[in-house]
Amino acid sequence: MRRPNRKLWGGRFSRPTALPIERFTQSLRVDQRLGGCDLRASIAHARMLGKTKIIPARISRRLAKALTGMLRDFKRGKMRLDPSAEDIHTAIQLELEKRAGEAAQYLHTARSRNDQVVTDLRLYCKEALERVDDQILRLQRKILDQAGRAGAQIIPGYTHLQHAQPMLGAHLFLGYLEALERDRQRLRAARGRVDELPLGSGALTGTGLPIDRKLVAGLLGFSRVSENSVDAVTERDFAAEILSDLGILGLHLSRIAEDLILFATHEFGFIRFDERLLTGSSMMPQKQNPDFLELTRAGTSRIIGNLMQLFTLLKGLPSGYQRDLQLDKECLFEGLDRAQGMLDTLSLGFGAIHWNPKAALRQLSDEALYATDLAEYLVLKGVPFALAHRAVGQLLAHAEGRGISLASLPLKEFRRFSPAFEQGVYALLNPSASIRRKRSLGSTGPARVRACLLRWQKKLH
Ligand code: ARG
Repeated sequence: MRRPNRKLWGGRFSRPTALPIERFTQSLRVDQRLGGCDLRASIAHARMLGKTKIIPARISRRLAKALTGMLRDFKRGKMRLDPSAEDIHTAIQLELEKRAGEAAQYLHTARSRNDQVVTDLRLYCKEALERVDDQILRLQRKILDQAGRAGAQIIPGYTHLQHAQPMLGAHLFLGYLEALERDRQRLRAARGRVDELPLGSGALTGTGLPIDRKLVAGLLGFSRVSENSVDAVTERDFAAEILSDLGILGLHLSRIAEDLILFATHEFGFIRFDERLLTGSSMMPQKQNPDFLELTRAGTSRIIGNLMQLFTLLKGLPSGYQRDLQLDKECLFEGLDRAQGMLDTLSLGFGAIHWNPKAALRQLSDEALYATDLAEYLVLKGVPFALAHRAVGQLLAHAEGRGISLASLPLKEFRRFSPAFEQGVYALLNPSASIRRKRSLGSTGPARVRACLLRWQKKLH
């Protein structure tokens, strides 16, 4: 008897693959994490082959039993994968041959690695996206808790990183929830498009054997089967979509991380983190750095890099399976791993924030923060906005030029810039008054923010 070939495609070949080519084309190191998905897909495929009588029922049972045992072992990290196997599909086939003997020769009926690998990948993505959804939800809850804890804490709001207008710390944090909610929606929509069974497409044109694709879809929990076999084995648009959505999520996470980094600096000082999240310097003994946030900020560049890699990989490929597609997994896995690590890290970060009200208060004594409120005050007294804007601008320049605060400037000086100024103007120069004046929908007005907190509490808990 001939020695069983260790490749899934040895028949046509009389000489072994050159070692450098063997090494160069191997993918086991990367695709071994698809093992669980591959085994489950194979179990469903074996059952279907038996049910449709394409293979004898006895063989089908034997296969399902052996594969189920392998799945159990794989989950425990106890299944040996032959390190010389070309890929995870080959490694599993080799192990199956050991466990199921002759029956193993029936499994690859009506199947190609082309529809197999993309089936595994879709299964993997569906589950990964569920985990990501959970993790975003967990982060949202942590942020919400922190928004609640921020309570009446007011901070300066910044544009151009310059003092702009006072706002509630909770308002900023609740804004993060909105962005993350859109990320969840996008990723859920992507998951809906992933949820389609390609198995049964064969190498690219389907098969002449009487397979039952809907049965396999049901067994694997796919809600539908793909409609076109070439499309099914060619497309990786679902992977590009996931990475795009993760990239956008990454933009949010990096901005949140950056806000927190700034707020935790000596210069801002609005918050500080539990020491156990911070890291030190090998030379400067005093240092306690938020490296975990910096790496969250940096991780986004990797996700975007993975997306660009995948785009570049896919661009210009012809229809049908091409071996280029083997490298899709590195991009996708890295993007998913990064995003998941970043989500967990930020969740931890939000659980470990301590506010320092004094630092924020110091900043809020900058009267420039109330300039817009002064202009709106004039508008309410009938002054056209453009004139009010100019009057307040000149007033600030005047006070600054004389080195005197608005609070100690006599009313008659105010009136030099607009006769509409009255005694009430002094009451505007404090943070809570500024916050309370905000009334528009979606604003930082305390009543609005309280309502948002309640709405999010209902939604997330
Ligand atoms: N390792 C391959 C991949 O990841 C499996 C499919 C190989 N198919 C083939 N026709 N060579 O894409």
